[in-house]
Amino acid sequence: MAKIKTHFVCQSCGSNSTQWLGKCPACGEWNTFVEERLDGGPNTQEGSLASVREEFRTHSTEKSQYTILDGNAANPVSSSRPRLSTGISELDRVLGGGLVSDSFVLLGGDPGIGKSTLLLQMAKGLSKSQKILYVSGEESTDQIKLRSQRLEVLGNGNIYVAAETELERAFALVKEIKPNVLIMDSLQTFSSGQLDSAPGSVSQVREIASKLMALAKSAGICVWLVGHVTKEGSIAGPKVVEHLVDTVLYFEGDGNLSYRLLRTVKNRFGSSRELGVFEMDGEGLQEVKNPSSLFLSDRSESLPGTAIATSLEGSRPLLVELQALVATSPLALPRRTSVGFDGNRLSILAAIAERHLGLSLSQKDLFFYVTGGLKISEPACDLAAIAAIWSSFKNVALPKGCIFIGEVGLTGEVRKVSNPDVRAEEAMKLGFKKIVAPASLTDRLKKISGIECVGIRQLNEFAKLLG
Ligand code: TYD
Ligand code: MG
Repeated sequence: MAKIKTHFVCQSCGSNSTQWLGKCPACGEWNTFVEERLDGGPNTQEGSLASVREEFRTHSTEKSQYTILDGNAANPVSSSRPRLSTGISELDRVLGGGLVSDSFVLLGGDPGIGKSTLLLQMAKGLSKSQKILYVSGEESTDQIKLRSQRLEVLGNGNIYVAAETELERAFALVKEIKPNVLIMDSLQTFSSGQLDSAPGSVSQVREIASKLMALAKSAGICVWLVGHVTKEGSIAGPKVVEHLVDTVLYFEGDGNLSYRLLRTVKNRFGSSRELGVFEMDGEGLQEVKNPSSLFLSDRSESLPGTAIATSLEGSRPLLVELQALVATSPLALPRRTSVGFDGNRLSILAAIAERHLGLSLSQKDLFFYVTGGLKISEPACDLAAIAAIWSSFKNVALPKGCIFIGEVGLTGEVRKVSNPDVRAEEAMKLGFKKIVAPASLTDRLKKISGIECVGIRQLNEFAKLLG
């Protein structure tokens, strides 16, 4: 009898070895090697990828396996990759303008954040023209039915729901139903019968992702894969398969707040910095069309320690309120604490403010907060952050209806940011009339009618400006 071939796979990074090792030479973790079977078994069995592929080949017109790049614009490349509207415009935007028909999309996020809800609502939008198969390894068909009734997903007879945990059985369903869109919920609950390891292990997770990728490309099905972001442990997270898929979306949000952010992390078919905003309520996820208003407090006057910044998320400008609190420190080593803002950057900005604005912060605690639970990482918010620190230190409110854009260098110079016009227009829309911006951008910004633009080159001019 043929001997079963095995190898050892590191459950932390996925590297493999022919023998067991105590310490993984690739990632340095201890005790992570697990023995796994190598042979995949015969490929012709029911539900194997090859058999599904074969089925689709006989039912679709034979496509040529290669194409020639000839620079001919008349060659219909884009029409061969039609975009499907998901019926949720926030989701379409994040996908780069709709769903590509044979793409493989990974939707990651913390458990309970609303991934399954989003996909059911997407299925509702797609079901008008597409056949959808939703395979859940987590919920029973009754549970999904109940949820879909709550979300008013009627389906028009086009949504098929199955509860399965074995990949091969899911493939058999694909063969039978021939959907245009396949939703697999979730990565960590499926396992391939051809591997011995437990569901959720690195090798299972990789095997499943690579088989689904092959399915998407060879059968022309759009595949959605849900992946729970996990704390470290034996369960592999979506990071392990990110390199395989076409598009990676992360669904995030603060458990205490009702809104959710859908971010593009990688996209082979569009920008990778898009952002969609949703709000979760009793009827599922609702799109938020004007998110800036969500992240600004609705008070009418300006208070000491607050400044408004614009953060560009992909093509979308967001206005956010930054809050700083400068307080005398009881400690020898004063604190620099921030929520939603990079702590190192805050320390740098505090040092810049100390040097170039003459604020003596060395004996002060500095607390910094981005309202609405948003996380911002753009250097274009530097000037607003310094303005908030200045305002709290002096206990003077900044002028009402004023926003700050600009990156600040260590030398105190205020530097250009990308897309200032987009930011200014968003500010205008929300009733902000005054912009403090780098001097090099004022000519550009003055073209926007109705906006008053104050240009500064150096931070010390900023102090003069505000008195
Ligand atoms: P779910 O989509 O199951 O999360 P995931 O698939 O990411 O694990 O969402 C579950 C949460 O969403 C749950 O805490 C309840 C909440 N929820 C609502 O608030 N309203 C709704 O209409 C639905 C369907 C869920
Ligand atoms: Mg779920």
